[in-house]
Amino acid sequence: MSNDAIVLLKEDHKAVRKLFRQFHAQGSDKGAVVSRILEELTVHTYIENEVMYPRVRELVPDLEQDILESFEEHHVADLLCAELAGMDPGDERFTAKATVLIENVDHHIDEEEGEWFPKVREALGRKELQEIGEQLLEAKQKAPRELSQPGALRKAADAVLS
Ligand SMILES: [Fe+2]
Ligand SMILES: [Fe+2]
Repeated sequence: MSNDAIVLLKEDHKAVRKLFRQFHAQGSDKGAVVSRILEELTVHTYIENEVMYPRVRELVPDLEQDILESFEEHHVADLLCAELAGMDPGDERFTAKATVLIENVDHHIDEEEGEWFPKVREALGRKELQEIGEQLLEAKQKAPRELSQPGALRKAADAVLS
């Protein structure tokens, strides 16, 4: 299996987009699908924030603005995730909020894959991307999976909403 950083991150994107399709499928259990989306996004955002973004920022200074914009997009997604985590799937705003989260993340993934990941691949050698990939895998081990700690999620949601 390749440990190339970009390959690993694209695998995560594929997995989360599969969940997005499940969310939109007729008759899906939207509450259960959203729980899985929140868990996937929590881990993925963590490893990008902790490893990919800082490393790229350091190694490819030309991408500074793209990285800063991506951090902001993560921030918006985090707020939506925290709100969703504190909501009941029966709430009239639940599906609307989840749809906005999905639209935002879809756009964000398009920018990563279409705009700046290719520039990272151009700027860095295979060896560097492998090394970052290994750091991503390591970070994944210690990443929070907030859904297993509903209390923490509820607290995060309360902090956002208060
Ligand atoms: Fe991202
Ligand atoms: Fe990503």
